[in-house]
Amino acid sequence: MTTQTLSAKTDHYNLKNYDEVYNSFQWSQVEQNFSWHATGLVNIAHEAIDRHAKTEKANKVALYYSDQYRKEQYTFKEMKDYSNKAGNVLKNIGVNKGNRVFIFMPRSPELYFVLLGTIKLGAIAGPLFEAFMEGAVKDRLEDSSAKVLVTTSELLKRVPVNELPNLEKVVIVGEDVKEDETYIDFTKNFEQASATLDVKWVDREDGMILHYTSGSTGKPKGVLHVHNAMIQHYQTAKWVLDLKDDDVYWCTADPGWVTGTTYGVFAPWLAGVSNVIRGGRFSPSDWYQTLENYNVTVWYSAPTAFRMLMGAGDELIKNYNLSSLRHVVSVGEPLNPEVIRWGIKVTNLRIHDTWWMTETGSQLICNYPSMEMKPGSMGKPIPGVEAAIVDDEGNVLPPNRMGNLAIKKGWPSMMRAIWNNMEKYESYFLAGDWYVSGDSAYMDEEGYFWFQGRIDDVIMTSGERVGPFEIESKLLEHPAIAEAGVIGKPDPVRGEIIKAFIALRDGYEQSAELQEDIRNFVKKGLAAHAAPREIEFKDKLPKTRSGKIMRRVLKAWELDLPTGDLSTMED
Ligand code: WTA
Repeated sequence: MTTQTLSAKTDHYNLKNYDEVYNSFQWSQVEQNFSWHATGLVNIAHEAIDRHAKTEKANKVALYYSDQYRKEQYTFKEMKDYSNKAGNVLKNIGVNKGNRVFIFMPRSPELYFVLLGTIKLGAIAGPLFEAFMEGAVKDRLEDSSAKVLVTTSELLKRVPVNELPNLEKVVIVGEDVKEDETYIDFTKNFEQASATLDVKWVDREDGMILHYTSGSTGKPKGVLHVHNAMIQHYQTAKWVLDLKDDDVYWCTADPGWVTGTTYGVFAPWLAGVSNVIRGGRFSPSDWYQTLENYNVTVWYSAPTAFRMLMGAGDELIKNYNLSSLRHVVSVGEPLNPEVIRWGIKVTNLRIHDTWWMTETGSQLICNYPSMEMKPGSMGKPIPGVEAAIVDDEGNVLPPNRMGNLAIKKGWPSMMRAIWNNMEKYESYFLAGDWYVSGDSAYMDEEGYFWFQGRIDDVIMTSGERVGPFEIESKLLEHPAIAEAGVIGKPDPVRGEIIKAFIALRDGYEQSAELQEDIRNFVKKGLAAHAAPREIEFKDKLPKTRSGKIMRRVLKAWELDLPTGDLSTMED
């Protein structure tokens, strides 16, 4: 792995003196920015929207929404009124503090009104990907005993309403909705609803959002986050996203994924910036056009998207004026150095990797605008967060030793429960003190963290521990390769052998020569023992909706094992 550093550019939030800030920072300093710190009673939706509607920001655009059919914008004042209206629609059908309200619909302004309205009532929002099929919807509504579901006429087909005894009301966003005891017409009720709502003041430790996420085994689990998370959402918006008042920010993630709520809703609005939301599917030209149309300044996306843009060629991007862009950030999977080099080539900007998880609620280990960057490294922990590499007993390991990436318990946005399963929740913590992420990594002498893989993905071949990510990154540097997924395949002699699944770029044909060439490429570029002994070509690799290559699915295919929960897999 290269250790070439890339030098920094801007420094708005004083992390240039990273060590100094790291050593003196206290989270209570951030709370002082908000009036609720005195009473302890808070509501994150109020802090994100209503707070600004009382200031000179009232008429500033909070939301720029667009998709294939709609192009709309809403000020902070309008967002306040519309989320109040949505809140009243829900309140009128009996939604109270603590109730679970699930939201199963494609991105649209209404989705965001409903999400904020739910939270304003002190209820817990459960956003679902629109692509979920019936089984996935049922699992989540059942496990959480959801009381209300907000969906569209089209998606209603995938909701087994009669099999969900706790589901009292289904609110439908669409035309010609026939109302009865169960079904409620959102549009009609929304029009009639008052724009005034008494926001429910709750304890900072009360729940506000429930994100279901899949592990490598078992059913998806409900990760509960509380209002207190806002402290970290707010502060990372500054340190990591570098958001300032006049920024136009675009986070490409869907709210079905934690990135699409923490950084698609809360962080930008807590920071009071204009937030771009683009509905519909990914398309390179559409995305470049979105950056140009809104003069986006700060852009948060994921490695898969960057790789797909890279695959679309360097000619395409030249057709767009992206000169407003000043800061680019990435999350979700390792950011290959190759992608960072491409980013610099086409935009003259570094792409900043950030590491965190659904369970952690916000960014934890990051590359900052003011930091020297080592491509391939996740960066350093944010101030207020202690990260370490620990062994299986919770002992901290010295630099350069690979082990469990762990975080000292107690950061503000840490999950507070696995819904219905406190035993599972406790199992994340080692020696009571360390949250164990399930990722393996090492830290170098300078305190930079390097991702190696999910613990269960690490390959042991001929006695060497090999991280699949490192090999995948090298494979992606080969001109013929568009996507690569690497697994360990049991082998009687070597323990495991390395097997690579590869999707080729347009214009390349699979052949024995190409296989050999790829093997040599890894041998020369990385290490002989890291070269994949087996290579299989595929048109496409299995990926999650957030873009992670699903190695466990590759492994299951290879070994003829059950693939487990596939609800988060892209079509
Ligand atoms: C992986 C995403 C390498 C990791 C917000 C983690 C990453 C899991 C990175 C969480 C990164 C996320 N580099 N790996 N920068 N960011 N991951 O819950 O394995 O969808 O444990 O949340 O994604 O995925 P989740």
